[in-house]
Amino acid sequence: MTARSADRWIVSPGQTVRGCVRVPGDKSVSHRALMFGGIADGVTTVEGFLESEDCLATLKALRALGVTIEQPATSRVRIHGVGIDGLKGAAQPLDMGNAGTAMRLFMGLLASQNFDSILVGDQSLMRRPMERAAAPLRLMGARIDTRDGKPPVVIRGTPNLHGIQFAMPMASAQVKSAVILAALRGSGVTQVVEPAPTRDHTERMLECFGVDIQREGSTISMRGGQRLRATHVDVPGDFSSAAFFLVAGSIAEGGAIELQGVGMNPTRTGLLDILRLMGADITVSNLATRGPEPTADVRVRPSKLRGIEVPLELVPLAIDEFPVFFIAAACAEGASVLRGAEELRVKESDRLATMSAGLSALGVPHRLMPDGMHLEGRSGPGPVFKAGRIDSHGDHRIAMSFAVASLQAAGDIEIIDTTNVATSFPGFAALARECGLAISEFQTETGI
Ligand code: S3P
Repeated sequence: MTARSADRWIVSPGQTVRGCVRVPGDKSVSHRALMFGGIADGVTTVEGFLESEDCLATLKALRALGVTIEQPATSRVRIHGVGIDGLKGAAQPLDMGNAGTAMRLFMGLLASQNFDSILVGDQSLMRRPMERAAAPLRLMGARIDTRDGKPPVVIRGTPNLHGIQFAMPMASAQVKSAVILAALRGSGVTQVVEPAPTRDHTERMLECFGVDIQREGSTISMRGGQRLRATHVDVPGDFSSAAFFLVAGSIAEGGAIELQGVGMNPTRTGLLDILRLMGADITVSNLATRGPEPTADVRVRPSKLRGIEVPLELVPLAIDEFPVFFIAAACAEGASVLRGAEELRVKESDRLATMSAGLSALGVPHRLMPDGMHLEGRSGPGPVFKAGRIDSHGDHRIAMSFAVASLQAAGDIEIIDTTNVATSFPGFAALARECGLAISEFQTETGI
């Protein structure tokens, strides 16, 4: 049998961007819509669902746990909720693929069940830290084992968890959400204190499902023993996918890009603030609220970017956008500095190391630090990036970031290991081509 996969891109230099595009649905919101719909009473409908590999891993896992999910169209799902006590043990280990969000949120959801579960994932996920979620869940009474802190995660279901007060040691929406999900079936009140604000999709969406959950300052509180009422969820366009086009539109030599229906949750739009501090020309219009999340249309035009020191408080609010921020910083006049971003070391790849290797391959002067990077900025007019070959290490956001760099490149950029772009942004290459990027996709034939 021959397997084919789009695993290599060659992106030729381009200069002008154009177009009016709609990026696919938000990944974080899509995961949560499936999970919350699965444990709600009644039928939840989802519009704008992101049909990506990561979200499909969550969908398949829920089916294995006894939830009926229909998908009448690519971006529409109907979830027949089984209620808070209705999940059934899966016969096989649950495969989370590349999805850290799926694994950590399922840890919370499954810790309080009356059956056992095993969570596994792909090569990248099997190397990622899971104790950050397991440790607070154990404080609630959960019985969870990891191997050297990593998957497989073995959960012995414990239905009588109790609420905790938990001060998170790191700013992580996944850890916060795991604790909240476990607390839903537990006793007493659970409080999670954030060291810095993180994305709040879980809190917003639980409210839409009728759950009483409160925030006061940096503390989120919720009483256990609440039921979820099925609802309709409108998924906004993923700001993290729009980010590639925001940087493309900013560093291009001419043209403009308009992005429609982009999620504008302020816990996600840190890159917008960062780009504006750099002098980007971005206008936001048609602000609206679609269910739990605000959306808007965003227009971006090329501008002369200035290097900046990224304000520390924006780091968690732009955490997934730093690969493409480094591309913008390389094109800016003057140096840029990012500190306080050690979390990038434990994403789908070590994003500081992977970006540093890629920037070196394209001749970009920079200094890697344990928690960030110092970039010199452009040395004068003309292309910023040399031609070269980038290994994305299977990290979707690294691959897409270096594709954007082609707008300021002197020659072809070859990007390998691009298959995982489908985990968050299936169709990226086609949409980028529509906007003027010259991406050619190649597929390696592997005999199996
Ligand atoms: C996510 C939270 C973030 C982010 C990830 C998605 C979520 O991770 O990087 O892509 O959906 O909750 P952390 O919570 O680990 O910061």
